[in-house]
Amino acid sequence: MKDQVGWKRSGQARHMEAATRNIRSISLNKLRHTLIALAVAALFPSDRSTCMAQTQAADCKTCHTAQATELAGSIHETLGCQECHGGPEKFQLDGAVLRSFTNRSLDSGMAFDHGSTFKGKPSRSEVPQRCGECHADVRRMNPYGLRTDQLARYWTSGHGQVLKEQGDETVAVCTDCHGTHGILDQHQPQSKTYPLNIPDTCGTCHADAAIMAPFDHPVQIVDEYKKSVHGQLLLEQGDTGAPTCSTCHGNHSAMPPGFTTVVSVCGKCHQHAAKNFATSIHAQQEEHHGCVQCHGGGENRYFHQIERITKPAGVMIQRYAHLLATESDPTAEQIAAAIHSEPKHIITQALPSCMECHEDLEDDESLPKLFNLIDEIASAESYYVRTAQRIDEVGRGVLLVDNERFKFEEAKTHLIGLAPVQHSLNNSLVEAEVNKLTAVCDDVNAELDNQEDGLEWRFRALIPIWAFAIVFAVLIYAKYRRLEHAYVKPLPKN
Ligand code: HEC
Ligand code: HEC
Ligand code: HEC
Ligand code: HEC
Ligand code: HEC
Ligand code: HEC
Ligand code: HEC
Ligand code: HEC
Ligand code: HEC
Repeated sequence: MKDQVGWKRSGQARHMEAATRNIRSISLNKLRHTLIALAVAALFPSDRSTCMAQTQAADCKTCHTAQATELAGSIHETLGCQECHGGPEKFQLDGAVLRSFTNRSLDSGMAFDHGSTFKGKPSRSEVPQRCGECHADVRRMNPYGLRTDQLARYWTSGHGQVLKEQGDETVAVCTDCHGTHGILDQHQPQSKTYPLNIPDTCGTCHADAAIMAPFDHPVQIVDEYKKSVHGQLLLEQGDTGAPTCSTCHGNHSAMPPGFTTVVSVCGKCHQHAAKNFATSIHAQQEEHHGCVQCHGGGENRYFHQIERITKPAGVMIQRYAHLLATESDPTAEQIAAAIHSEPKHIITQALPSCMECHEDLEDDESLPKLFNLIDEIASAESYYVRTAQRIDEVGRGVLLVDNERFKFEEAKTHLIGLAPVQHSLNNSLVEAEVNKLTAVCDDVNAELDNQEDGLEWRFRALIPIWAFAIVFAVLIYAKYRRLEHAYVKPLPKN
């Protein structure tokens, strides 16, 4: 081997040393090819051959520029290719051979011997382990403050289990969600794991009918999510407080920590609704889909199109004012339908799914009970908007209603409290909340009555005063005329 190196015409000792190290890693076979090429070149000398005979140092990025560029801009910029792929630091190659690689597309069928330490490209099922070599190693991750549970959690996820147990490589592996060479951390807007990009990252498979067909997972999920209150909040308003796919399903395990089922994940953010739901009879039904049984959209929907139903108090009041413009004396039903019909609407929509358990919708007493609850809330809402409207009307006149407005704020708190309490399906709880709201409205109305009575009283009290003033004025005038007559003599005529 030493002789062969000596035979090289390179004058630089530094290069020779490197070559000695690297030449060992090039297989004998490769060397033989190179030698033959050199011999041929020596037989037909030309300008080009002198240069061909020189060996040049090459590393991974000499031939794989695309991957090297991506890696350089990624979170892994400090890693060498060898940490994931093995292979030597440098190759010592004949210049022409090297050019033939760098000038042609690498997938044109050319073979390159990467040496004996080269591990190659990991197959999809090898990827988790390959990434886990560092990411599951506490010692390696400590300096970066990164958790080391991704690999372990991945194996417990729906994806990992199917890969492990069935060897099915269509499921997601680390590189599907993170990328391969261009991995960015989740806070960068171009990252595949940036919250706003996650629906599309998951969607590359979950919205693809061909990939999902064997697994019986509906591909409509992704689109439904995008149309949902959460999807719109996140994707259109950039509000990262709204959940994205991985908020509910977890990144690496099928579920975020602390949840026994994905159906209980909603309570992380909707605590009041969840607390009340937990006391309802449905919370004990194993087959019940929890929150998404009612909120997931019903027939021909796949639990992800969760819609907004609560209208802010201000919108309800506006809708009432609008109703009054066309209807001078609306009935309670008309008011309920006009200001907030959504709760009934979502239940009607979901009804077919209730029939899995409530077989006979006609005879079942449960459903009228629910609609009763909703009606009760609706009439409380209606009282609320009527009171609000009255405060406004009175305030537009001569009376000051600041006190009433202030008191009425409390009614809003109870109004907002109604919907979460309704999840208990408990009549008396809802009634109690309705009563609190009604009491405040009663109070405010009583005060307005008082104020208006006072105004009327003051108005009436003014009548004698005015009468007195008029009589007084008349008397004064009469007196004036009399005095004028007595004292003011007409000037003598010339
Ligand atoms: C002289 C050019 C050249 C150099 C230097 C080179 N490669 Fe390659 N590499 C190729 C070619 C050509 C292919 C495609 C054919 C093949 O697999 O042999 C390839 C394929 C690969 C593959 C895919 C293998 C597979 O199983 O599909 C990986 C991974 C790879 N190279 C990594 C590296 C790494 C890491 C280095 C540095 C240690 C490196 N390469 C250095 C030319 C090169
Ligand atoms: C963090 C680990 C990691 C590092 C570092 C890394 N690779 Fe890879 N590389 C992979 C994985 C994993 C694959 C398999 C791709 C897949 O299945 O998505 C791969 C695939 C490849 C391939 C096959 C073609 C392709 O893009 O799929 C080439 C070539 C390659 N890498 C070259 C390199 C080079 C050159 C470097 C250094 C600049 C490098 N890699 C650094 C993990 C790595
Ligand atoms: C050779 C060790 C090594 C391997 C193998 C490796 N990583 Fe990393 N990875 C790191 C280090 C070190 C960091 C931290 C870099 C930093 O913060 O500067 C990191 C950071 C990350 C981050 C960003 C974490 C964050 O939010 O800050 C992700 C995501 C990631 N790696 C995914 C992968 C994936 C996917 C693979 C497999 C394709 C992989 N890693 C393979 C060492 C490795
Ligand atoms: C590379 C394709 C691919 C990507 C990307 C992907 N998945 Fe999957 N996923 C699958 C396949 C295939 C299945 C079916 C396996 C099964 O039923 O367990 C699946 C199953 C699931 C399941 C059901 C698991 C179970 O236990 O039944 C959930 C939930 C899921 N994926 C969520 C996600 C989320 C969230 C993302 C994005 C962060 C994502 N997936 C990205 C391919 C993918
Ligand atoms: C189904 C998609 C998916 C798969 C598969 C996946 N990840 Fe992640 N990963 C994510 C998402 C999404 C985040 C962002 C977490 C967040 O927003 O908090 C993440 C975050 C990370 C982080 C940052 C630290 C952390 O835990 O928050 C690392 C490191 C990481 N993943 C490594 C891996 C490794 C290693 C694998 C393979 C064993 C893997 N991931 C598989 C989706 C995935
Ligand atoms: C607000 C929380 C939430 C969000 C966001 C969410 N999901 Fe779901 N997902 C659920 C719930 C709850 C279920 C279970 C429905 C049921 O009871 O069957 C589910 C079910 C699934 C299933 C079927 C699992 C199975 O075992 O059959 C898949 C696949 C899935 N979701 C993927 C996604 C994808 C992809 C996204 C993002 C586009 C997403 N989910 C966003 C809560 C969510
Ligand atoms: C990460 C937090 C988070 C999780 C988890 C979450 N949501 Fe939400 N949800 C929100 C936010 C934020 C809003 C918007 C609130 C607003 O603007 O009034 C919202 C709005 C809603 C609304 C509309 C509320 C209204 O006033 O009309 C419903 C219904 C809803 N979510 C149901 C669910 C269900 C069911 C789940 C579980 C499958 C769930 N959410 C999981 C954060 C979350
Ligand atoms: C039996 C059907 C049903 C179930 C199950 C259900 N909801 Fe509701 N939800 C409703 C109805 C009806 C309303 C509207 C009440 C109203 O405004 O009159 C509502 C309103 C809401 C609102 C908006 C009002 C508020 O509280 O801010 C949220 C958020 C919500 N539900 C979340 C959940 C969560 C989380 C779960 C599971 C823990 C759940 N729901 C389970 C029927 C249901
Ligand atoms: C998994 C089975 C299951 C599903 C699905 C289901 N329920 Fe029920 N529900 C029950 C059981 C069991 C009871 C208690 C026995 C009864 O009253 O019939 C009940 C009771 C009720 C009650 C009365 C609660 C009480 O305290 O008296 C209401 C209201 C109700 N369900 C509404 C609904 C609505 C609306 C849906 C569809 C969105 C639905 N349920 C879906 C099983 C279910």
